Amino acid sequence: MIIGVPKEIKKHENRVALLPVGALQFKRNGHIVLVEKGVGEGSGFSDQAYKDAGATIIEDVEEVWKRAEMIMKVKEPIAEEYPHMKEGQVIFTYFHFAAEEKLTKAVVDSGCIAIAYETVEKKDWSLPLLIPMSEVAGRMAAQEGAKYLEKPLGGRGVLMGGIPGVPPAKVLVLGGGIVGVNSAKIASGMGADTIIMDINIPRLRYLDDVMEKNVRTLFSNEANIRRLLPSVDMIIGAVLKPGAKAPHLITREMLKEMRAGTVLVDVSIDQGGCFETSKPTTHDDPVYIIDDVVHYCVANMPGAVPYTSTLGLTNVTLPYAIQLANKGWKQALRDDDELLKGLNIALGKIVYKDVADTFGLKYTQAGEVL
Ligand SMILES: NC(=O)c1ccc[n+]([C@@H]2O[C@H](COP(=O)([O-])OP(=O)(O)OC[C@H]3O[C@@H](n4cnc5c(N)ncnc54)[C@H](O)[C@@H]3O)[C@@H](O)[C@H]2O)c1
Repeated sequence: MIIGVPKEIKKHENRVALLPVGALQFKRNGHIVLVEKGVGEGSGFSDQAYKDAGATIIEDVEEVWKRAEMIMKVKEPIAEEYPHMKEGQVIFTYFHFAAEEKLTKAVVDSGCIAIAYETVEKKDWSLPLLIPMSEVAGRMAAQEGAKYLEKPLGGRGVLMGGIPGVPPAKVLVLGGGIVGVNSAKIASGMGADTIIMDINIPRLRYLDDVMEKNVRTLFSNEANIRRLLPSVDMIIGAVLKPGAKAPHLITREMLKEMRAGTVLVDVSIDQGGCFETSKPTTHDDPVYIIDDVVHYCVANMPGAVPYTSTLGLTNVTLPYAIQLANKGWKQALRDDDELLKGLNIALGKIVYKDVADTFGLKYTQAGEVL
């Protein structure tokens, strides 16, 4: 199969969908890899490294799209890429269709085979191609929050770990899932007194067993959150209600109960945010202040650490991509229920029910296209 990897053109996107080591693996399986010139630059991988791995460097991105039977990307195609998508071509990337009707319609019209990273699903309902990015965002949340706690950046001027004789910072993490646990790991590792809140008692029980001694668990409800507001230095928003907007656990009125310079990091911002006052920000301008409370609400946090993010992402996508190339998309999906869950749109038909329902479009069972 011919695999094509175009350079990401979305603003601030420096990740790449395939590493040189991945290109080598495709080659060893008898496939041809075409990468756009400079494809790995943003993540620190040179054209020479891809060449050494047996990939062909192509100057013209149109040629990559034209010749490839499977395109591997990181972000969803953006408007200027729509004309490149073609009938029968597999596109393996993050799509997030429900967020964008125009993209959904363009993919339907193109007749391509859209396999979305974000809906590949294991039997235990976990989402293996989303987890590494939640791990990155979670770990970054505590790191970024610590930075903005510094006085010159608007924070209270509190050191995460304190020093002997001086107490550490107090960090509240709302949501004890992948993002929450990774945030708590870094916050507590820096010495902060850390509290994780969740509504899932078995999860809290598990976290109570495995986390460090300076991490406590607390059931998430309004009364418990309110009680903590006057004493916390940082709050990390890491809740997820699958398929729904994030609940506003901190309202505008509650900001008044916090001390000036408290830092809010809303990782859930990509689902609307779990603080009422959150609005998406970018790495160029990540924070703003309301009622003396610092808000950090970057919607694509992993984009700031493309080296780590690219390695984390490609570690988990490559095995599926190799299956798709070795067997062809139909057989690969028939053989693997996890990967089949990733199929959203194929040959002009929407085969993922939530996407069809979101836009009131016709839903077709995946079996009909396989
Ligand atoms: N901003 C970014 O760059 C970025 C990157 C990765 C993930 N995210 C987002 O971070 C969020 C969390 O992702 P995740 O992978 O940790 O999800 P997850 O499903 O692993 O965890 C979410 C947790 O929230 C808990 N929860 C639900 N309602 C709650 C409530 N009212 N109070 C407290 N806890 C509650 C759930 O029980 C669950 O344990 C998602 O919205 C995800 O899209 C953002």
